[in-house]
Amino acid sequence: MMLRVEAMNAYYGKSHILQDVSFAVESGEVVALLGRNGVGKTTSLRAVMGLTPPRSGSIHFKGDEVRGKPPYFMAKAGMAYMPDDLRIFPDLTCEENLEIAHRLSGRNGYWTKARVEELFPVLGERRRQLGILLSGGEKKMLGVGRALMSNPDMILLDEPSEGLAPLVVKNLAQVIEEIRDKGMTILMADQNLKFCRRVSVRGYILEKGRIVHSDRIASIWEDESIIKQYLAL
Ligand SMILES: Nc1ncnc2c1ncn2[C@@H]1O[C@H](COP(=O)(O)OP(=O)(O)OP(=O)(O)O)[C@@H](O)[C@H]1O
Ligand SMILES: [Mg+2]
Repeated sequence: MMLRVEAMNAYYGKSHILQDVSFAVESGEVVALLGRNGVGKTTSLRAVMGLTPPRSGSIHFKGDEVRGKPPYFMAKAGMAYMPDDLRIFPDLTCEENLEIAHRLSGRNGYWTKARVEELFPVLGERRRQLGILLSGGEKKMLGVGRALMSNPDMILLDEPSEGLAPLVVKNLAQVIEEIRDKGMTILMADQNLKFCRRVSVRGYILEKGRIVHSDRIASIWEDESIIKQYLAL
């Protein structure tokens, strides 16, 4: 098991946000966290990364208890995190954004700038473009590319498909499939069930900070009552 979260409780101030949240991701698996706005998807990813440390529960990453570890520890241990707002450096070029992600991580491996640019040709084409001048879709690609540049064992993706045109979503799904096929483990929070169905096999549904359902995405896709109750807008 790559990641096992058990009975995690997280708070923002006095608000009890995550309530006994448990989920697991096997090595090489792509798992989706689903649910409407404000149900706790981002908080779950932040909790795993150590950005919103849970007050109770346990988080095992590659077999080690990591609850309470700070984000830099998690990064060094092989966890990469793409936040929903991406945090691309606006005054650095596309390639500098990739290089700095590699340098800060201090981790070498399969993923190099050349391999990331091969995966996302547009990042090669925009190599000298400043981050601020990239389109929304290009920024998402750069966000994923930057996560890969730290050669992690696992990647947390917050809303990879959000705000992208359907064609770009399809393209991103293809790339995530390629990354998965190279053995990467991914946990992603996304509201686009069609996108999730393409790249992940299993999913967990959150509602008001609790996991209310978990199943194969293919089964969720076909379950109208679950979709209506927890996912439809
Ligand atoms: N910094 C914060 N301080 C206080 N409350 C917060 C903070 N961030 C989020 N919340 C609250 O925590 C709950 C869960 O938010 P979270 O961002 O995890 O949801 P989400 O499922 O990612 O939603 P979205 O689909 O909008 O991204 C919401 O009720 C939200 O209002
Ligand atoms: Mg969110």
